[in-house]
Amino acid sequence: MTQSKIENQKSKIPSPASAATGVNFLTNALASPVSPAEAALRPLSFSDFTGQAKTIERLQVMVGAAKRRGDALNHILLSGPPGLGKTTLAFILGNELGKTVRVTSGPVVEKAGDLAGLLTNLEEGDILFIDEIHRIPKTVEEYLYSAMEDFRLDIMIDQGPNARSVRLSIPRFTLVGATTRAGLLTAPLRSRFTLQTRLDYYDAPTLEGIVKRSCGLLKVEIDDGGAREIATRSRGTPRVANNLIHFVRDFAQERAKGVITKPVAAAALELLEIDAAGLDEMDKRMLRVMAENYRGGPVGMSTIAVAVGEESETLEEVHEPFLIQEGYLQRTPQGRVLTPKGYHAIGLKGASSSQDTLL
Ligand SMILES: Nc1ncnc2c1ncn2[C@@H]1O[C@H](COP(=O)(O)OP(=O)(O)OP(=O)(O)O)[C@@H](O)[C@H]1O
Ligand SMILES: [Mg+2]
Repeated sequence: MTQSKIENQKSKIPSPASAATGVNFLTNALASPVSPAEAALRPLSFSDFTGQAKTIERLQVMVGAAKRRGDALNHILLSGPPGLGKTTLAFILGNELGKTVRVTSGPVVEKAGDLAGLLTNLEEGDILFIDEIHRIPKTVEEYLYSAMEDFRLDIMIDQGPNARSVRLSIPRFTLVGATTRAGLLTAPLRSRFTLQTRLDYYDAPTLEGIVKRSCGLLKVEIDDGGAREIATRSRGTPRVANNLIHFVRDFAQERAKGVITKPVAAAALELLEIDAAGLDEMDKRMLRVMAENYRGGPVGMSTIAVAVGEESETLEEVHEPFLIQEGYLQRTPQGRVLTPKGYHAIGLKGASSSQDTLL
C-alpha cells in the first residue's frame, strides 16, 4: 500500500489536539487523522472485518467478479458517519485484489493537474481512494467524469491563443470515494459509481466483538462484562471503541490491577463523561440547549451550534446522526425537535412540547 504525495490530510472538522477528556473526547476521536495506533487495529481482510453485512456482501461479489474476469473493480462510493470503516474497507479492497491503494482527500486535489498526477501514476487495476469526496472542487470534479467513464483526461494546457487540449489516457483504475455527507455529492458524480453503499452504526454485540479483537491485539486483559460496557458506550462506532479502550486500559492499570471488567470500564468512562448510552457532554449540551432555551424545538442546527459553541458541521457529522438514529431528536423541515427520549436523557420529563402549549 503506497500513499500518494498528495497525502490524506484531514481537515474536515477543526479540533484542537487536546486531551481525551470530557466535551471534546468524541469530536477529537472522530476528527483526528488515523494515528499509527489506530492503523495497527485496522482489519486487513474481509474475514477480519465484522459487521456491515450487506456492504461486505456487495463488495465481495464485486471483488470476486472482477478477479474472475481479470478486470478492474467498478467504482465504489462508501458513505456514512465518521469512524465506521470507510477507509478500512478501501484498504481491504486493495488487499483482496492484490492492488495498490493510493490515498488522497477531496479538498487536497485542488487542480486538474493534481488529479492528472494521481491518475497517471496508477497501474492497471489500482485503487484511488478519495476521502471526503464531497469536498472535491467543482472544476476538478468535471475531469473525474471522463476519467471514471472513459479512462481518459482532456487537460487544457497553456493560455490564450496557445491554449490547447491534451488527451491523456489513464490505466483502468477503480475510484473508491468516501463521504460522510453523501447528500452533498452532485448527481453526475454520484451516478458514475456502480455501487453506492452506506455504512451504519454497529450494534452492541458486533462492537463487543471488535472491542475484544482490539484488546487481543493490544494484549489488554478484558472480560465479557468489560467488553460489553465499552461497546454500549461507543455509540456504535469502532473508532470510538478503540479510542476508549486506550483510556480504559490506562485507568485499569492505575486503579484496578490492569484488568478491564465491567465496573472498571464503567468508572473509567464516567470519568470521561461518557454516559451509559454513549452520550458525551456535547450530545447532552445539545439536548439541554434544545430543551431549556427552545422548549424542545423546532430549532435550526446553526442556532444550536452557536449556543453550544461548536461548528454546526461537526454537530451534523459527528453528533446528530447518532442522536437521530437512537431517537433523541428528530429532523423536521422546521428544524430539530427533541423527543421524549431526548428529554429523558438529560433528566427532564417530556416537558410541555410546543404542541401542548398551542392546544
Ligand atoms: N468492522 C470493523 N472491525 C474492526 N475494526 C474496525 C471496523 N471498522 C472500523 N474499525 C476500526 O475503526 C477505525 C476507524 O475506521 P476508519 O478509519 O476506516 O473509519 P472511516 O469510516 O474511514 O472514518 P472517517 O469518515 O473519519 O474517515 C479503524 O482504525 C479500525 O481499526
Ligand atoms: Mg476515513
